[in-house]
Amino acid sequence: MSCIYFLVGPLNFDLDKGQDNITLILNPTAWTQMASILFVDIPAGSGFSYAETKDGSISSDNILANQANQFIKKFLIDHPKFLKNPLYVAGISYIGIIVPKITLELYEGNERGDQPPLNIQGYILISPLTDKFRDFNSRLEYAHRMALISDDIYKSAMKACNGNYVDIDTTNSFCANSLRQYEECTSAINMDNILEPFCDENDPQSDCNSDFSNIVDVWANSKVVQEALNIRPGKIGRFELLNNTLHYHQGKNDTSCYSYDIFSSFVYHKKLSNKKCQSLIMSGDHDMTFPYVGVEQWITSLNVGIKNPWKPFYVDGQVGGYETKYAQNDYTLTYATVKGAGHLVPSYKPKETIALVEKWFSSQIRSYDS
Ligand SMILES: *[C@@H]1O[C@H](CO)[C@@H](O)[C@H](O)[C@H]1NC(C)=O
Ligand SMILES: *[C@@H]1O[C@H](CO)[C@@H](O)[C@H](O)[C@H]1NC(C)=O
Ligand SMILES: *[C@@H]1O[C@H](CO)[C@@H](O)[C@H](O)[C@H]1NC(C)=O
Repeated sequence: MSCIYFLVGPLNFDLDKGQDNITLILNPTAWTQMASILFVDIPAGSGFSYAETKDGSISSDNILANQANQFIKKFLIDHPKFLKNPLYVAGISYIGIIVPKITLELYEGNERGDQPPLNIQGYILISPLTDKFRDFNSRLEYAHRMALISDDIYKSAMKACNGNYVDIDTTNSFCANSLRQYEECTSAINMDNILEPFCDENDPQSDCNSDFSNIVDVWANSKVVQEALNIRPGKIGRFELLNNTLHYHQGKNDTSCYSYDIFSSFVYHKKLSNKKCQSLIMSGDHDMTFPYVGVEQWITSLNVGIKNPWKPFYVDGQVGGYETKYAQNDYTLTYATVKGAGHLVPSYKPKETIALVEKWFSSQIRSYDS
């Protein structure tokens, strides 16, 4: 059976009837087997979300965090049967800048006595962006650890650039020279998974439009599908898997519709480490987009003690990756690297990812019982 695994939702695409006849099958590793999950396309302009006024289409990291908080609150007020459920906020990649702020606000709302109280318990992040300097800066060290650059290039870059490979002093020719070598070694590497073929977006010959994005494009833009999903006709143009107007890349300036105004979410993580809060942070060890190297740096900077040191976790008798648990008072942080996974961790290693999350959730349930 050939199917395409896409992240954590209840359904996968089944390709057995050919690419012209896309059908859906149940995802055997869906997280919806463990929890009630609300998937939200934010900000307006992503997925099927839209704004009807110019004001409504203007957003920023801070506005987004605020809108997400209002959304969670309004949803739970409208669906009170979920109010008692333990609540976790989760996200992948760029939203690592915003999820910690959303989560902290849920705690602070309860502390202020906002009604109704929400049963916030923690957060889950996959391949998160946390700091718009540190995470990008960690790519060079990552390239060295993964043997994409030599010891010599690494040492000379470190010395010449003083550990800063992002805000480069253009008059420093030693640093510029080292970074040119680094660029030469890595510019044709697929950042989302260093083992996969590189896709050159400027080269019409290269097969950038992977099967997957073609399939999503055809499926999500078909009339039948949009009717079945209750998408309001005419509100969005085409559905895009990735809206380039909104998509962030290193050094991107604000656009007329979005301001990337949170530089680092570290302070929110730090504040959450003083709450009754459980967090699960996961990285694919073959992801160079936001390498595990940078993730480990901010986790270490939290200064929370190690409860269970780095050790392998097993799935079907094989090492699925490595896990470390940090704890302080009522706070825990479980950090895991998933072996062989790229940026979209669950799409590369669905079994390993769900095993980790399942184990983590069940340790939470044990602590409610006690
Ligand atoms: C698509 O697959 C379904 C299920 O096997 C089949 O009933 C249908 O005839 C196929 N449609 C086309 C256009 O091939
Ligand atoms: C992408 O986002 C921008 C800004 O919100 C929006 O104007 C545009 O319609 C979006 N594109 C698509 C295809 O939805
Ligand atoms: C962002 O804006 C600054 C100042 O206008 C400009 O120098 C820089 O090149 C811009 N960066 C990008 C990635 O467009």
